[in-house]
Amino acid sequence: MKIVSKGGNVESAPKRYVRIRITEEKRGTKRLLRENGADTLEIGAGKFEELNRRTFILLCRSIIRAARANKSRYLALQFDRTPKLFKNLKAYTREDFAQLTAENFEMANFDFNHFKTKPKEGWDSVDEICVYGKSSKEVARAVQKGQEIGRAVNACRTLANTPGGDITPTTLAKAAKDAVKGLPVKVTVLGEKEMRKLGMGALLGVAKGSSEEATFTILEYKGKGKGSPIVLAGKGVTFDSGGLNLKPSSGIYEMHMDMSGAASVIHAVALAARLKLPTPVVGLLPSVENMPGNNAYRPGDILKSLSGKTIEVLNTDAEGRLILADALTYAKRFKPAVVLDIATLTGAAISALGMHASAVLTRDDALAERILRDGEASGDYVWRLPLWDEYEDGVKGTFADIANAAPSGSGRGGGTIEGGMFLWQFAKELACPWAHLDIAPRMTTTTGDELAKGAAGAPVRLLLRFIEQWKP
Ligand code: BES
Ligand code: MN
Ligand code: ZN
Repeated sequence: MKIVSKGGNVESAPKRYVRIRITEEKRGTKRLLRENGADTLEIGAGKFEELNRRTFILLCRSIIRAARANKSRYLALQFDRTPKLFKNLKAYTREDFAQLTAENFEMANFDFNHFKTKPKEGWDSVDEICVYGKSSKEVARAVQKGQEIGRAVNACRTLANTPGGDITPTTLAKAAKDAVKGLPVKVTVLGEKEMRKLGMGALLGVAKGSSEEATFTILEYKGKGKGSPIVLAGKGVTFDSGGLNLKPSSGIYEMHMDMSGAASVIHAVALAARLKLPTPVVGLLPSVENMPGNNAYRPGDILKSLSGKTIEVLNTDAEGRLILADALTYAKRFKPAVVLDIATLTGAAISALGMHASAVLTRDDALAERILRDGEASGDYVWRLPLWDEYEDGVKGTFADIANAAPSGSGRGGGTIEGGMFLWQFAKELACPWAHLDIAPRMTTTTGDELAKGAAGAPVRLLLRFIEQWKP
């Protein structure tokens, strides 16, 4: 999609450009008018004085969605025709708005149609938007940046949406390489042999049930080369069947997206490099396929993790925390400034928060605040859950140091906290702050998002802001 800034007024747009007019009618109102030989698409934004950053994001998306439904490929728009629109949003700069608008235009123009036959008339996407009115070099640059961000989110969505038969640990590593091609990012892929040598027994335990070889991909972006890196570890389970604790039919659907954490890390690192951010960033992508089978790990098995701690497997479906445990220990060698892990870790996060916010769990209040703030600003919303000492007993093992799940029938609840508390047993060995993002709630889009069905691309936007705003 092209976004073009034009001086002058929207009336001067060629006739084939559909004029977008934002009205104070109820949000969701769409009306097509023919005026002076050109089409005008009216979009309701609701009362302008009630508009906020969140509803502005949705408004941007609904413009594109309405245009697509109307098969309009060329749009003309002039935000300063409705100055009252921004009355409530004075706290933000023009550049900030330009970026936010471009990001969300791109996100709303996306569909996962890779596997569909192209219709004769082509896909119903918007090709070009001309934005009329006052602009500046800074605003134009912000638009470009917003488009880069939107594209990165969409690339993450494409990768996460790709079926489990096509994305395996090996092809995920390949996707990481492809994503950073031509960028100053070093890629290293460890295979099972190397991981065995290192002692990544937790990750390798999960990998046993699959004929697909596990991989561990490391992305290193040096930035300006100063200071210790931000380490991002993304869960890369390319298909989560549950293993021998096989998931029921209702729970197994969409489990090819259980590598959404890894996909977000790949595209956040690539984006940081593309935008030439100064902060060094390392991406860690532990990747396995979780399958039942003759050679699969069993409930009751005891795994020896890279940290040396032993783990009792109470449930083979609690596999994400196992592979992340080894990734968190591996992170140590980069002497990180901060470590974030990103994972579709628990269905319980959806029970707790519904589908509009990811969960953030950390023992570091300042880090929690930073992440909540970057989440709010970016549109990747997060909400905090506790990681208090009181929960620590829940991950004690009976026959090993740590258990990977609550004993079945314990009926304790709080599964997301338990997942976070498990990871904390490894993260506490780090000499830096750590936070866990459980993105299961934002694995897919939901009603009200004004986005295509499928992967949501969370939390690429949050991670980018976090990297940008990071000051040690
Ligand atoms: N990948 C799932 C969590 C999940 C569920 C993500 C639904 C997105 C949507 C994870 O590996 C899992 O199976 N978690 C278990 C943990 C339990 C066995 C302790 C769960 O949530 O039930
Ligand atoms: Mn699982
Ligand atoms: Zn999983």
